[in-house]
Amino acid sequence: MKLKKNLVAATMLAGSMTALSFLSAGAAQAQGALVMYCGVQEEWCRAMVTAFERETGIKVSMTRKSAGEVFAQVKAEAANPRADIWWGGTGDPHMQAAEEGLTVEYTSPKMNELQDWAVRQWEQSKKRTVGIYSGALGFGYNTELAASNKTGELKCWADLLKPELKGEVQVADPNSSGTAYTLLASIVQIMGEDKGFEYMKALHKNVNQYTKSGAAPAKAMAQGETTAGIAFMHDIVTMVVDKAPIKVVAPCEGTGYEIGSMSIIKGAKNMENAQKFYDWALTANAQKLGAEAKSYQVPSNKSTPIPPQAPKLSDVKLINFDFAKYGSSEERKRLLSKWDNEVKNLPK
Ligand code: G6P
Repeated sequence: MKLKKNLVAATMLAGSMTALSFLSAGAAQAQGALVMYCGVQEEWCRAMVTAFERETGIKVSMTRKSAGEVFAQVKAEAANPRADIWWGGTGDPHMQAAEEGLTVEYTSPKMNELQDWAVRQWEQSKKRTVGIYSGALGFGYNTELAASNKTGELKCWADLLKPELKGEVQVADPNSSGTAYTLLASIVQIMGEDKGFEYMKALHKNVNQYTKSGAAPAKAMAQGETTAGIAFMHDIVTMVVDKAPIKVVAPCEGTGYEIGSMSIIKGAKNMENAQKFYDWALTANAQKLGAEAKSYQVPSNKSTPIPPQAPKLSDVKLINFDFAKYGSSEERKRLLSKWDNEVKNLPK
């Protein structure tokens, strides 16, 4: 008799457990899903996913790619978009996607909390992308390797052409990397197009590898694989914070900068959740996850604390980077094919 009573109780318990799990699955189902292409460093991408899922119950599937790669994928998928939100990475590919109608207009209720430069990005893109952070381009050098290669102090873009740095400079490929496209566009704006391409050809002789990702040269310097590396200054600072023997340089001739951006993909299957993420990602609460993930960009929400490790943009000779021009489809395509034809395959 006792066994039967236990069996009935067990069956009832199992039944209620199933019902509960069905309900909780249903509840999660009710929150839905979100597909995110992420353009910052992996650690920050993952921190955003974890925090957003915890806050909303929305299940996020995230892929981290470099800015040029995300642009190419969003373009390839335009007829049947897989992603809902493109978060992070340099602004130029986001601007090109906006011009080509690959992303959609959205006005977040958070817009009035943003810095002017973030709102200007939104206005210039006809409300199809918005600034989420900013950072200056620069380079760094491993002080131990510089000493052994007798390079002397490196302070200017011109110093990266020194013969002592042959095979000792690393930078990403501007086709895949937003960082490297920012370099190409900055050098052209600083030196003029002809002299700028002469510079890129001379630099090519010292380049040991064109990496896929823009932050890879910072990591390579820290690992002693290259003497000098070109990247956003904040990505090099991340290595310095981790005690790498690296000097971070704001080039003496002046330098460009990025407005890291966010866009909602046209035809997004989870449009409502994409807008929820967009609004959330503009809050100070979300933006402060960057510093916690050792990413030291300058955040776009006025109330997000600027990480003390972030390079002070007021100390850097920043050019007046023409985002409208260098984020235009025509100019970005033209510069990239000119670099492919005139620089990438030059004999060393
Ligand atoms: C890193 C930087 C970001 C930048 C991104 C571009 O994540 O911290 O500020 O937007 O690189 O990546 P990419 O690989 O496209 O150069």
